[in-house]
Amino acid sequence: MKNGLPDAIDVVEAKTSKIDAVDFENLVFGNVFTDHMMICDYVNGEWQNPVIKPYGPIELEPSAKVFHYGQAIFEGMKAFKDDQDQVWLFRPEDNFNRFNKSSVRLAIPEFPKEFFFEGLETLLNLDRDWIKKGFGNSLYIRPFVIATESGVSASPSKSYKFMIICSPAKAYYSGEVRVVFAEKFSRAADGGVGYAKAAGNYGAQFYPTNLAKEEGYQQIVWTDANTHEYLEEAGTMNIFFRVGDKLLTAPTSDRILDGVTRKSVITLAEEHGIPVEVRRVKVQEIVEAAEKGELKEIFGAGTAATINPVKGFGHQGKKFELPELEDSYATFFKKELMNIQYNKSEDKYGWRY
Ligand code: COI
Repeated sequence: MKNGLPDAIDVVEAKTSKIDAVDFENLVFGNVFTDHMMICDYVNGEWQNPVIKPYGPIELEPSAKVFHYGQAIFEGMKAFKDDQDQVWLFRPEDNFNRFNKSSVRLAIPEFPKEFFFEGLETLLNLDRDWIKKGFGNSLYIRPFVIATESGVSASPSKSYKFMIICSPAKAYYSGEVRVVFAEKFSRAADGGVGYAKAAGNYGAQFYPTNLAKEEGYQQIVWTDANTHEYLEEAGTMNIFFRVGDKLLTAPTSDRILDGVTRKSVITLAEEHGIPVEVRRVKVQEIVEAAEKGELKEIFGAGTAATINPVKGFGHQGKKFELPELEDSYATFFKKELMNIQYNKSEDKYGWRY
């Protein structure tokens, strides 16, 4: 490495492509991966030169620390193709910055920016045929780091593996989404790792989410761990509530992920004169608004989920359904975001890359 730049990125191209075997019209989120992946190892106190090679298994010691202590973080990003075959990323610097913020919290060495962007661009150029045109088509990009040092002492690893894998994507949820407000389990606590994209934040949700699924809910909206009185974020997305014409969402904190889609929605709402209140949102106020018919919409915002309308919610055994709207905010924001992501509208904020 010279002046923070990789000497060269080693590229080993796949001899054959798997692309012809993929049914791009019927993708299940995150099940199919492109021909190549990026790998970069951290050894002897330094990130080594990145390598791009055919997607495939990696070998790890059973004692690698990631298996025992969950020292792992990740990001979720998307690439989009416009009508002229140009490929665009959406606010990737925000993902990169959050990646290193998550790393710091998990005692993982920060990843060099030049490696991240040069590696990602090389990888996307190799696999660009996997990015399909048209609203709703994208390439989901998953950068992650795992602790690879062998040994079960509970201390930070001395070696790591950074990787990027990519998966062609359509919608995250294949059907309607209903959510339940958490009453017993919690996702995150003050001083904890809720704001980081720590792998364990997601794994710890699987059990309560399975219980919610048995009750007919696809997701849990997590409430604050102390009182369960305030709504915070859903399992795979930040969450917005529309009461009358007002949009409400929780502020970011130690416990809540600073979602890129979330903050884009807030900016767009402000630009389009939609009143938006970023403040703690009480469970009780949302339940009362629903009872009075003032709760118009709930929707999630996330990279994988995009803008996902919520059809109904459950609270203390009661089920509430939300109305179908002609003037849905969720539909509006989704369209606005897609126009920017697919290069169909002016990029006022410099979000396209
Ligand atoms: C994303 O939206 O990119 C995420 O990381 C959520 C993930 C659990 C699918």
